[in-house]
Amino acid sequence: METQVRHRKGHRMTSTSAAGAGDDILVLEELTLRYGALAAVDHVSLRVRRGGRHALIGPNGAGKSSLFSVVAGTQRATEGTVFFDGQDVSGLTEVGRARVGLVRTFQHSSLFLGMSVLDNARLAVERAEGSPKRPWPNPRRDRRITEAALRHIGSVGLTDRKEALCGALSHGERRQLEVGLVLACNPSLVLFDEPTAGMSAAETERFSEVVESLPAEITTVVVEHDLDVVFRLADRISVLSAGRLIADGTPEEVRADEAVREAYLGKPRSEEPLFGTVA
Ligand SMILES: Nc1ncnc2c1ncn2[C@@H]1O[C@H](COP(=O)(O)OP(=O)(O)OP(=O)(O)O)[C@@H](O)[C@H]1O
Ligand SMILES: [Mg+2]
Repeated sequence: METQVRHRKGHRMTSTSAAGAGDDILVLEELTLRYGALAAVDHVSLRVRRGGRHALIGPNGAGKSSLFSVVAGTQRATEGTVFFDGQDVSGLTEVGRARVGLVRTFQHSSLFLGMSVLDNARLAVERAEGSPKRPWPNPRRDRRITEAALRHIGSVGLTDRKEALCGALSHGERRQLEVGLVLACNPSLVLFDEPTAGMSAAETERFSEVVESLPAEITTVVVEHDLDVVFRLADRISVLSAGRLIADGTPEEVRADEAVREAYLGKPRSEEPLFGTVA
C-alpha cells in the first residue's frame, strides 16, 4: 500500500473492497453509465491485475467504449466506483487520472502532422512534465527531453522514422507513435480502444509486436474486434454484452463459455470452436 498515489479528492478503498488491491491495479465496482434510459454500462464489477494484458471484447454496442470513457474519466459514472492503484479516482477528471498514471490512447488529432516524429515526442515529454518552454535556452533540459523522446520513439519501433514528418507516416506508424506519446506520460495503465482498426495485416502484426514489447510494469487493457489480436495479446479476457459483464477469465475459459458463444453467434452449443483454434 506504500506505493499508492494519493490525491486530494480521492479516498482509499474500504477494507472490505481493498482485498487484492496490491495485485489489482484497476478495480471497478458496480460501474454504471446511463444515456437516458439506456444503461450502456450496467453494474460492471471487474478487476485488472497489475502488469496484466487484459482484453475487453463484445459485440457492437456492448458498451466497451462507454466503459473506457468512465474508466478514463471522459464520462462520469452514473453509479459505481473506479479504483486505480487502490485509490478511488471516480472524482478525478481525465487529466487528473492521466496524471496518476491511468491513460487512454490519444486520437489522431493529438499528432501534429507538420512536425517531425521526434518533435511530436519532445512536445509530449514537455507536456507530461507540465513545464512550458522557457524563452531562454536550457541545453541540459533540452538534451534530457530529447533523450526521453528518443527512448519513447525507440520503444514503439520508430527510431528509423524520427526525422519523418508525421504527415508522411502510414496509418500504422501513426498509431505506433500515439503509443510512444502515451509512454511520455509515464503510465501504469494504458487503455487501447480498437487500436488496429483500419490497419493492414502487416500493420496489425507490427502494432501487436509493439504492444507485446511494452515494459511489463505497464498494464494494458485492449478493446479489440480482431480476435486473433485478442488471443495473441491477452492473458485475461472480459466479455461485455448489452452493458453487462457476461464472462471474465483466461482466454481458454472465455473461448469455452456458452454465454459468450451465444452473445457472439446468437446460438448456444456447437462443436465449432469459437474464435478459431487454440494456439
Ligand atoms: N453519447 C451517447 N449517447 C447515447 N447513447 C450512446 C452514446 N454513446 C454510446 N451510446 C450507446 O451506448 C451503447 C454502447 O455503446 P458503445 O459505443 O460503448 O459500444 P461499443 O461496445 O464500444 O461498440 P463498438 O464495438 O461498435 O465500438 C450503444 O447502444 C450506443 O448506441
Ligand atoms: Mg467502441
